Amino acid sequence: MPRPTTVHVCSACGAEAPRWLGRCPGCGEWNTLVEETRAPAAGAAKGRGGTAAAPRAAAAKPVALSQVQAVRHVRHTTGINELDRVLGGGLVPGSLVLIGGSPGIGKSTLTSMALGNLQGAGKRTLYVSGEESASQIRLRAERLPGAALDVPTLAETDLDTVLATLDAERPEVCVVDSVQTLHAADLTGAAGSVGQVREVADRITRLAKARDIAVLLVGHVTKEGALAGPRVLEHLVDCVLQFEGERERTYRTLRALKNRFGSTNDVGVFEMRQGGLVEVEDASARFVGEATRAAGSAVLAAMEGSRPLLVEVQALVSPSELVPPRRVCNGIDRNRLALVLAVLARHAGVSTGSADVFVNVAGGVRVDEPGADLAVALAVASAARGLPLGGDAPRPVACFGEVGLTGELRSVGHPDRRLAEARKFGLDPVIAPVGSEGGAEVPTLRAAVRAALPQQPRARAA
Ligand code: TYD
Ligand code: MG
Repeated sequence: MPRPTTVHVCSACGAEAPRWLGRCPGCGEWNTLVEETRAPAAGAAKGRGGTAAAPRAAAAKPVALSQVQAVRHVRHTTGINELDRVLGGGLVPGSLVLIGGSPGIGKSTLTSMALGNLQGAGKRTLYVSGEESASQIRLRAERLPGAALDVPTLAETDLDTVLATLDAERPEVCVVDSVQTLHAADLTGAAGSVGQVREVADRITRLAKARDIAVLLVGHVTKEGALAGPRVLEHLVDCVLQFEGERERTYRTLRALKNRFGSTNDVGVFEMRQGGLVEVEDASARFVGEATRAAGSAVLAAMEGSRPLLVEVQALVSPSELVPPRRVCNGIDRNRLALVLAVLARHAGVSTGSADVFVNVAGGVRVDEPGADLAVALAVASAARGLPLGGDAPRPVACFGEVGLTGELRSVGHPDRRLAEARKFGLDPVIAPVGSEGGAEVPTLRAAVRAALPQQPRARAA
């Protein structure tokens, strides 16, 4: 009789260890191993002790790809253009899409809206929620456009019940909100534990593939920003979408981290309003329109995947009473800020050593690319000197470029698209690294600061 086995699974990377260890042998993180008890699958446990060499199944016949019949699926369009675009043109039947994001970001709102649109377009849908009661879901749906109120809904946490319902109802598109709240009764461990999450995703995947159901699986992210539960989920699903932004801010971005049926380059921008999420199709226009001309503001010509986006980077430099002074940033990487401040001080004559430095990407957008360095540097330089970038120029100064450790400005991807986007909004010249044809090309950070800040005595900043 096979007995349940106890394994230790890393909650960060999903690696398994034979016993409890302080440090995960897979990813090297400390204190991430958790104990999981596994009930053996019927008949499976026998294999472990058997001889490895003797096959236990009949051989299958491999087929040349040219002989394989390619099934061309008609995708389900969700009616939310930004979502469809990030998915690569809609939901593929039988595919599993994992949507991750921190609590309150709008995952339930986005998936409810998508289902409402699909339901309105005559598709069979099902919304499974383990988080909220049916009446709570109704209250949200009342605020949403489309046929959100007509979506068949199931408030349930038992995995077997959910699978049975899926099998009986055979929806074309289903939302499971969230993978951490479902519970497989035959496994020990609380809902949301590594083993449970993996089992839930695995069994839903198998049913979805067999019945051609497109499933949107909602997942929470941990404090560190990783999709909660193990990364093993990412291997299991076809597509991983990340919904980002800050709860208190209006703008949110949706990007694909993995996509078997499309590129991972596209980014959708949304705004949270009273009536749900609204797509922001021309995000650059919004952000440039909102940009101030004050000291400490720079417009970054960023790339969000394959799409150029103009965003405002703001900085505040103020005398500090703390040792060490504060370095606070929103929307950019903290280490990147430290690097830019060091290069500014060492190579461009802008020292912030004893001042607090705050940097913020306006609108709650996150820019994770080296091309943002120059905008951060110029915003800080402008704030430190108390002078607006570009002097009296009528439009804000735009820029992009990576800052190197020796003070040089390095080129980044797609200079042409960034420049074209900046020009579209009348931002000219654009301070850019050498090789960005059409921009105000500068070789070093010092030269960039000189070009962007009018030559005035520094005394005014004091
Ligand atoms: P929700 O979708 O429940 O977030 P998640 O499922 O990711 O945890 O909702 C996010 C927030 O959005 C919530 O605080 C309420 C707000 N909201 C609006 O501002 N307008 C709306 O129309 C809806 C439905 C929600
Ligand atoms: Mg939710």
